[in-house]
Amino acid sequence: MGVFSDILRSDETIFKNVIALDYDYIPKLVPFREVHQRHMASCITPLFQDRSGRNLFIHGPPGVGKTVACRHVLKEIEDEHEEIEPIYINCWEKNTTHKIMTAICDSLGYKFTQNKKSDEMMKIIKEILNKKSVVFVFDEIDKAEEHDFLYWILEQIYKKAVFLITNYKEWLLNMDERIKSRLTAEILEFKQYNLPETKEIISQRIGHAFRENVVEKDAFDAIVKKTYDMGDLRKGLYLLKEAGNLAEERSLKHISIDQITTAVKKLDEFTINKMEGLDDDERFVFEVVKKYPDSKTGDLYKYYMNSGGKGSQKTFTRKLAKLSEGRFITMEKVGGGAEGNTSIIKLASRQPVNKKITEF
Ligand SMILES: Nc1ncnc2c1ncn2[C@@H]1O[C@H](COP(=O)(O)OP(=O)(O)OP(=O)(O)O)[C@@H](O)[C@H]1O
Ligand SMILES: [Mg+2]
Repeated sequence: MGVFSDILRSDETIFKNVIALDYDYIPKLVPFREVHQRHMASCITPLFQDRSGRNLFIHGPPGVGKTVACRHVLKEIEDEHEEIEPIYINCWEKNTTHKIMTAICDSLGYKFTQNKKSDEMMKIIKEILNKKSVVFVFDEIDKAEEHDFLYWILEQIYKKAVFLITNYKEWLLNMDERIKSRLTAEILEFKQYNLPETKEIISQRIGHAFRENVVEKDAFDAIVKKTYDMGDLRKGLYLLKEAGNLAEERSLKHISIDQITTAVKKLDEFTINKMEGLDDDERFVFEVVKKYPDSKTGDLYKYYMNSGGKGSQKTFTRKLAKLSEGRFITMEKVGGGAEGNTSIIKLASRQPVNKKITEF
């Protein structure tokens, strides 16, 4: 064996299918989520008998397969059951009734949405959907700024199953009573994967993404351990992709522990850099949130002032918005109480590493 045998030629690659490491890639199998998928399917089954389906409230921490399991079920419907319309909406991207109605029209192949008001689109959607059955999935539902679209769907669309996905199980409790009573959702919890499960999922992904024997044993063990410790599969996939790119940059045929260490460092540094990107007052506000998590904006402002904060309420709200943008905190809108609309301020579940790591 020559001294250059471990060097990748310029026309070679260690990747078999790099797309398999994208976050929205839907693998053929979603191991360890079969029970969850069966529960979803059981809520949809009545639609096959021309009855209405059941609604489901899905919750769990980031990166535990909620979206992928759900999309997997929708894909099966799309591929095999023409009579049911699957509609998936991410409420982070589509956070208003108008955007959601436009997205539903898109999904139904109705193109003339320009300049149309929400209620005009609602009429069209109702006309199309009430001739068939539909499964709605509203992912990251806590990011929706308006909720009247839900009320409308529950009232106006007849044969349906509505799935809502979020990281926050308390979200449902704060929901408008009119919606809650019409939703009567069953609850499905996704828990973090244990070590053997994490190992198996990572191993399957490596099989899809890389050529054989590319990932060395030490590197594999390290990535599994780190992913398990972080409790978030998405970050594990990030590490794999990053380590793969590092190896290729260096023309290496294998991913060793060195590339994993560098990738982990980058992930960790990102956390620190993000903290460094905050000004003193933002850090101070963040400290207050850490001390009094799950408070309402108004109460938090009082704690901030009592702890020596000097900004006006407006400045304070702006700082909160900045922290929310950086995913240090989340602001969950709650409405209808004595104080009108307000938000509950929470620490982001795995703050402050961005869960959509592509935004790095
Ligand atoms: N059981 C699994 N099998 C294969 N891949 C998985 C599994 N669970 C999660 N993944 C992968 O991990 C990544 C994160 O999963 P997913 O997007 O479903 O997380 P999530 O629970 O929806 O997180 P969030 O709350 O942050 O949206 C995805 O790329 C997904 O394909
Ligand atoms: Mg998700």
